[in-house]
Amino acid sequence: MIKAKHVSLNFGSHWALKNCSFSLDKGDFLFLSGPSGAGKTSLLRLLYADLAMQRGQAEIAGFRLDGIKKNQIPNLRRQVSVVFQDFRILPNETVYQNIALPLEIRGLGHQHIERRVKAVARALSLENRLFFKCCEISGGEQQRTAIARSFVINPQVLLADEPTGNLDPDLSLRLMDLFLRFQAYGATVILATHSHDLLRLHPKAKIMRLEDGKITYANWSGAEIFRSAEEPTFG
Ligand SMILES: Nc1ncnc2c1ncn2[C@@H]1O[C@H](COP(=O)(O)OP(=O)(O)OP(=O)(O)O)[C@@H](O)[C@H]1O
Ligand SMILES: [Mg+2]
Repeated sequence: MIKAKHVSLNFGSHWALKNCSFSLDKGDFLFLSGPSGAGKTSLLRLLYADLAMQRGQAEIAGFRLDGIKKNQIPNLRRQVSVVFQDFRILPNETVYQNIALPLEIRGLGHQHIERRVKAVARALSLENRLFFKCCEISGGEQQRTAIARSFVINPQVLLADEPTGNLDPDLSLRLMDLFLRFQAYGATVILATHSHDLLRLHPKAKIMRLEDGKITYANWSGAEIFRSAEEPTFG
């Protein structure tokens, strides 16, 4: 479902990802861990085609990311959803409008959209906020709106960047439950997090640690690990 081979990414002279290789199957749940600045967001943005691939090869949900044509990106995003670390919701639109957006883009009928939006909002305890503008709700509610928008299309792949950062422990637990339900339906999930508590909630999940752009730990054989002695080479 996801394959990355020798993926490197630089911002100017700084390498944010260095020779990352790993693969995930359909239905896998991966915790992406690592300190601030390790490259977690950069990796998720590459997988969402939000950053262009520079080096290496990668594939997600049947789409090759290296050399992907611009007009293919909307098709990729029908299968792959993301919860950005900075939410990227529309502040002057309501919670309902934000969640409904990906369904409207798809041209679904009004009633179908309303049913889906309400169901997802209920699951995330947003039903009493649906008609508030996003600039008038709390940070945690904004975060849940971003999560609801990513859930609403039932994606094959869900990429979530620190999705519990602004939530209280209770809500984090419920959210984890929702991610696990997605996995149970066959979705592949990558969740970037600093939280060791979350990792403990799902002991069977795959874990991959990034440090300074390199994969330094993985608990399954599908990732190429760099131990500190072996610096990746790329010119
Ligand atoms: N748009 C950008 N322009 C320049 N450098 C960037 C940009 N985005 C990220 N970087 C750099 O790339 C490296 C990886 O950043 P990234 O945001 O992927 O880390 P992260 O693991 O998500 O960190 P955090 O846990 O703080 O979210 C960092 O050194 C960062 O400063
Ligand atoms: Mg980040």
